[in-house]
Amino acid sequence: MIAAVSDQDLAAAVAALADGQLVAFPTETVYGLGANARNAAAVARLYAAKGRPPDHPVIVHIASADDLPLWAREVPDAARLLAARFWPGPLTLVLKRASGVRDAITGGQDTVAVRCPAHPVALRLLRAAREAGIEGIVAPSANRFGRISPTTAAHVREELADSVAMVLDGGPCAVGIESTIVDVSGERPRVLRPGMITEEEIAECLGAGLGEATAAAPRVSGALPSHYAPTTPLELLDSGACVARVRALLATGQGVAVLASAETLAVLGQTLGHGDRLLAVAAPATPEAYARSLYAKLRELDASACARILVESPPSDPGWQGIIDRLRRASSAKPAD
Ligand code: TXA
Ligand code: MG
Repeated sequence: MIAAVSDQDLAAAVAALADGQLVAFPTETVYGLGANARNAAAVARLYAAKGRPPDHPVIVHIASADDLPLWAREVPDAARLLAARFWPGPLTLVLKRASGVRDAITGGQDTVAVRCPAHPVALRLLRAAREAGIEGIVAPSANRFGRISPTTAAHVREELADSVAMVLDGGPCAVGIESTIVDVSGERPRVLRPGMITEEEIAECLGAGLGEATAAAPRVSGALPSHYAPTTPLELLDSGACVARVRALLATGQGVAVLASAETLAVLGQTLGHGDRLLAVAAPATPEAYARSLYAKLRELDASACARILVESPPSDPGWQGIIDRLRRASSAKPAD
C-alpha cells in the first residue's frame, strides 16, 4: 500500500527545503535525504547529517530533463537519448557541470550527477519545489555514510530522525537498489555504478558499445569497498559452498543468518540438528523481486543477533549486475575466521 502524502505535507516539505532544512523523500530506488542544491548551508547540513566525507559528490534530482541545462554545460546526444528513454527513472547521468554549480555537491570535480526519479511523491516534490524557485534537490541515500540504504520511511527515521525536518512516506521503494550511474561526460559513455537498468539496455539505447566500466572510481562513494554493509560480518558464497559453510558454522555453536534460494534452504533444512541456531530467509527468484526486498532483508538478517550472515550468490545473468555489486560491497569487510 502506498501511504498518501497530502498537499499540505508537500507544501510543508517545500517550505522546509526553501528554509535550508533537510527533507527525506521516497524515490523508486531508495529514500533520499534532500536539500536545496543551490543552498550552501543546507548542503553542509546534509553532509553533516550523513557523516559523509566532503569530497564525495551527491546527485542533483530534477523535475524534468528540460532542467538539465541548469546543471550541465553540455548535454551530449548520449545524455538526451538516455534521458528520453529512461527518465523519469532509476538512471543517473554524470555530465560536465554548468558554471555556478557548487563544488560542495560535485566534490570539486568538473562533472555533476543528475537524475529525474520516477516515484510519484518525488516528482510531486520536485515540481512543487521548482515552482517555488528551487531548481534541484541534492539527495544522497537517506542513511548514515557506509550503512544500508533505506527502502522505507521507517528505515530513515531509525537513522536520521533527529536531522530531518520531515520524512515523506511514500511506502516501500519499488526498485530497491540505487540508480544505475552512467558517465556521459567523456569520449564514450560508461557505467560507474550498476543498477536495475542494465549495461545491455544502455548500450542498446545508445546503439553503441560502452567504455570500460570503472566501478572502482574513487569518487563514486558507492564504490568504496565496505559500502552498503550490515554490522554483522557477511559472506557471499557460491551455491555449492553455501550449505557446507552454514553447517560448519552451526557445528561450532554460532548463530547463522542465511539468505539463499528456496532449494538451498530445503537442502539445509534436511540436515538441521537439534539446537542449531539458524535464521533462514528465502531469496526471491527474479532480480526485480530480489532487489526490491534486498536491503530490508539485510536489515532483518543484521538484527537477528546471529554471528554471521551468509548469502548464496544469485545467478550471474545480466539482470543481476546491480544486485551482485551491492552484495559484494556488503561482504567486502572480510570477517576474520
Ligand atoms: O538511486 C539513487 O541514486 C539514490 C536516490 C536517493 O536517488 N541516491 C543515491 O545517492 O544513491 P548516493 O549519494 O548514496 O550515491 C550517489 C553516487 C555516489 O556513489 C557518488 O560518488 C556518485 O553518485 N556521484 C555523484 N556525483 C558524481 C560525479 N560527478 N562523478 C561521479 N560519481 C558521482
Ligand atoms: Mg548511498
